Amino acid sequence: YKRITTRSLFEMKANGEKIAMLTAYDYTMAKIVDHAGIDIILVGDSASNVMAGHETTLPITLDQMIYHASSVVRAIERCLVLVDLPFGSYQGNSRNALDSAIRLMKESGCHAIKLEGGKEIAESITRILSAGIPVMGHLGLTPQSIYKFGSYSVRAKEEEEALKLKEDAKLLEELGCFGIVLEKVPAKLAAEVSKSVSIPVIGIGAGGDVDGQVLVTHDMLGMTHEFSPRFLRRYLDLYDQMTGAFENYIKDVKSRDFPNEQEQY
Ligand code: KIV
Ligand code: NA
Repeated sequence: YKRITTRSLFEMKANGEKIAMLTAYDYTMAKIVDHAGIDIILVGDSASNVMAGHETTLPITLDQMIYHASSVVRAIERCLVLVDLPFGSYQGNSRNALDSAIRLMKESGCHAIKLEGGKEIAESITRILSAGIPVMGHLGLTPQSIYKFGSYSVRAKEEEEALKLKEDAKLLEELGCFGIVLEKVPAKLAAEVSKSVSIPVIGIGAGGDVDGQVLVTHDMLGMTHEFSPRFLRRYLDLYDQMTGAFENYIKDVKSRDFPNEQEQY
C-alpha cells in the first residue's frame, strides 16, 4: 500500500478528491476500517461516550487515549492515525500541551493529533507544531466545551460566531495545521471556510461542500439507537442484527442445540 500522509491529504484537496475519515478505538475495528480503504482513522475522545459510557468527552484521560491509540496503530497498514488530545491535557498551558502531545506520539505511535479550538489555544498549537507533530484543528461544535455551549445544537448560526469561526480557520492555516474538522455548522458557512483555506476541511454535519467527511463508526454501523442527528447516515442496523445473533446463541445454549457433535473434541 501507499501510506496516507499529511501530504497526500493536501494533494487530495488540491485534486478535488474527497477525504474519508472514520473513528476507531480498538485493534479489531481499526483493522477492518483500514482494510476497507479509509484515508484517516480518528481515535476520537468520543471513546469517552462510545467505549466508556460517559455522558460527555470530558472524563477520558490521556493514558486512556494512549491505550486506544496504540491498539489502533498496531492494526493499520495504510491509513493516517489521528488522535484527539483529551480535555485538560492542552488548554491554558502550552508546555503541558507539548508534553501531552509528545507522550501521545511516543507511547502510541500515532501520526498526528487533533485539538479543539482556535485563537484561545494558538500558543499550544504553535508549540506542538514546532516539535514536528502534525496538528489538525477542530472548530464549530467542540464537545469538550459542551458546558459553555449548554447543548449539542448547530453552532455559528449567528453572524458573530460565524465570523470568529472564519477567523479561527484562517489562523489555524497560518499556524501550520494540516487540516480542520468542522462539526455541526451550517453547510453554507462550511463551504465558505473550505474555500478560504488551502488545508483540507473535514466535515461532520457540515454539508457536502467541504474536503472530506467523518462519522463515528459505531453510529454509522447503527450500533447506537438513541443518537439520531440529521447528519448521521446509517450503513447497517447492527444493533438489531447483533441482538438477533445474541438471542439465537442464548436459545441454542438453553435448548442444548449448541454445541453439536462437530463442535466438540
Ligand atoms: O471524537 C470524535 O469522534 C470526533 C469526531 C466527531 C470529529 O472528534
Ligand atoms: Na473528538
